[in-house]
Amino acid sequence: MTSQLFTNIAELVTWDDEHPIWSDAALLVEDGAVAWVGARTDAPAADAVRDVGGRSVIPGFVDSHSHLIFAGDRSAEFEARMSGQPYAAGGIRTTVAATRAASDDQLRANAARLIGEMRRQGTTTVEIKSGYGLTAADEARSLRIAAQLTSETTFLGAHVVPDGTSPEAYVELVTGAMLTACAPYARWVDVFCEAGAFGADATRTILTAGMAAGLLPRIHANQLTYGPGVQLACELGAAAADHCTYLSDADVDALAAAGVVAGLLPGVEFSTRHPYPDARRLLDAGVTLALATDCNPGSSYTSSMPFVLALAVRELGMTPREALWSATMGGARSLRRTDVGHLRTGARADVIVLDAPSYTHLAYRPGVPLVLPS
Ligand code: NIG
Ligand code: FE
Repeated sequence: MTSQLFTNIAELVTWDDEHPIWSDAALLVEDGAVAWVGARTDAPAADAVRDVGGRSVIPGFVDSHSHLIFAGDRSAEFEARMSGQPYAAGGIRTTVAATRAASDDQLRANAARLIGEMRRQGTTTVEIKSGYGLTAADEARSLRIAAQLTSETTFLGAHVVPDGTSPEAYVELVTGAMLTACAPYARWVDVFCEAGAFGADATRTILTAGMAAGLLPRIHANQLTYGPGVQLACELGAAAADHCTYLSDADVDALAAAGVVAGLLPGVEFSTRHPYPDARRLLDAGVTLALATDCNPGSSYTSSMPFVLALAVRELGMTPREALWSATMGGARSLRRTDVGHLRTGARADVIVLDAPSYTHLAYRPGVPLVLPS
């Protein structure tokens, strides 16, 4: 058994019910898990000691929504958007062509590069979706590669209907041969429920088939327009409805009543010049929020949870504490994980040291690399 004590922590965020945030604290890690948390002066002995010098310690970020298996570059599309062009779901097809043309090694190396960026910015758990293959073989290899990088893999064959296929034939493929090929590598099933992608009936059919194959449902919902995605997430008991940019009062009430986590992805609104979702409205209604990057080459090419957190505070109406909770515990709830997103005794030892006296600096000092190497 090896143990490591983190001590001289000015501010320690554990999200423990009784004592969520400690001052002048210490934390003991044993065999990869948190073994003890308390006042610095009560700390037990350990094999190794790391004096963090009056800095703050937080749980690693849980990024519950990303699309890391892709090839190609869409910076020209971003440039066009910043010159006034609108964002459209059809841009996904550009990445599909580049992804199909890439080798397994290229896809793996690109995803590993992005995970390295995430890790250096404090992310210790990441969900990864397929969705840029759109054939049974290309979706299955995307998920096979994703499964080498995370246990939180999501089958998103229903990202967009590929060129040359009718919507009906494609739903049949996604719920048939493609699902069979992908299910062994996936934990979750997702659908881009949106005008220009998949409507209510197709979304229900695809998620229901995925659930019958043992996958757990989550949805891209209400990103570009008011739509049926949130209500479907609630009806089907999805873990999460992500985006939630355009919500009716009935949508907000349904999320609260069903206990579906609303995933907010403000990197998308930043990168598409769309209006931001209203986190305050959701929090006031009692909805559980997760913040995530949605890292993808089209609508949000950031791997940075600190950037997302700063946007959440500045643009979504969240306090720094609410934003940190949603980027850690909220992400864990979205992925139905109890071992990550917090630093209570027994948690996985995802200990992130910030070069700052308080987690508030994550939003107070936007764009500054505060995460120290572990
Ligand atoms: O979450 N909304 C659907 N999928 C991605 C966008 C993908 C793309 O534009 O390539 C998203 O925003
Ligand atoms: Fe997405």
